Amino acid sequence: MTLILGIESSCDETAASVVEDGLRIRSNVIASQHDLHERYGGVVPEIASRAHLERISPVIQEALGAAGVSLNNLDAISVGNRPGLIGSLLVGVNAAKAMAWAAGKPLIGVDHVRAHLYAGTMQADANATVNPAANETYPALGLVVSGGHSSLYELTSPLDMTLLGRTIDDAVGEAYDKAAVILDIGYPGGPKLDKLAQTGDGSDYDLPRSMLDKKSLDFSFSGLKTALLYTVRGKPQGRGRAARFERSADDLNDTQRANMAAAFQDAAIDVVMKKLNRAIDYLTDQARPPRSLLIGGGVSANSLLRSRAMALGVKRDIKVYLPPMSLCLDNAAMIAGLAHHCFINNQFDDLTLEARSTVSL
Ligand code: KG4
Ligand code: ZN
Repeated sequence: MTLILGIESSCDETAASVVEDGLRIRSNVIASQHDLHERYGGVVPEIASRAHLERISPVIQEALGAAGVSLNNLDAISVGNRPGLIGSLLVGVNAAKAMAWAAGKPLIGVDHVRAHLYAGTMQADANATVNPAANETYPALGLVVSGGHSSLYELTSPLDMTLLGRTIDDAVGEAYDKAAVILDIGYPGGPKLDKLAQTGDGSDYDLPRSMLDKKSLDFSFSGLKTALLYTVRGKPQGRGRAARFERSADDLNDTQRANMAAAFQDAAIDVVMKKLNRAIDYLTDQARPPRSLLIGGGVSANSLLRSRAMALGVKRDIKVYLPPMSLCLDNAAMIAGLAHHCFINNQFDDLTLEARSTVSL
């Protein structure tokens, strides 16, 4: 059995969790900073790192306390060390190093994006006994849809994956956040837009679905975002800062706003679903059909994506892993969960572990 502490601080959530054997979540503490960033309409990196500094120790203490364990009971200390906001990552990485050094425990640096893909195979149930990740899951097709990523992967295990495609401009979560600014519906944009879209009818507005080349597994969302801007505000006169629009988001009535949100959501999720189908076809043609589909990242909380992914699973006869809602957004349970697989594969780090804002995969 392994008992691992996970620490996550890559963006604007300070989180810590204790996980047993990579699947039983003994505690999952998340301190969100949404209130601090709301007035700026997005995450302010300097504010985020300062808030992590204030919160990291109490959050870790709470996670250990809720799990009923002390530092001495742990087998390892894991931390999301890449990719993310560098100042934010540094707080978690330094906390993990200090604890690992003080308690003489192994240190494990975990890739945040890979951890999002692993989250779907974990269960919120503290008594889970069977890890679905071990059986009939791999090879898998992985989709990460978050504020920083829209990527497809082929996975042969929780730790081994190859990139199949990624966004060439905005990530899907980023597009949601920007669309919410265009529609002036507040922060955080993704969940608000999702909620509003569920009350609207998107059929009044025909927004583009960018599929790129016929066989491309890459994504592009910037055209959809611009099309929404023009739908909301009309075609601009002039260019750049001098551009003047025909109207503003204030001129929309509630029905128009909800219908535009629905049209955006239909188009964005349509593209994701088409690319998923394309990737399944591609891997099947290559004689490497995926046994399952792993979906992770903040946008995996999206209502339309969840329902359409489940329908795709039935249609394509493929098992679909969607994280429980508590593991969709940034959390440390997914970090501690994936760290279990590093642990059993003897993948440890030492105190030279670095925070890295980007990764090459
Ligand atoms: O994974 P995450 O917490 O942070 C990153 O690693 O980026 O993802 C955050 C992103 C944000 O862009 C947020 O707007 C989006 O996930 N998001 C959603 C929903 N919930 C969160 N987007 C669409 N629909 C949602 N329900
Ligand atoms: Zn994330």
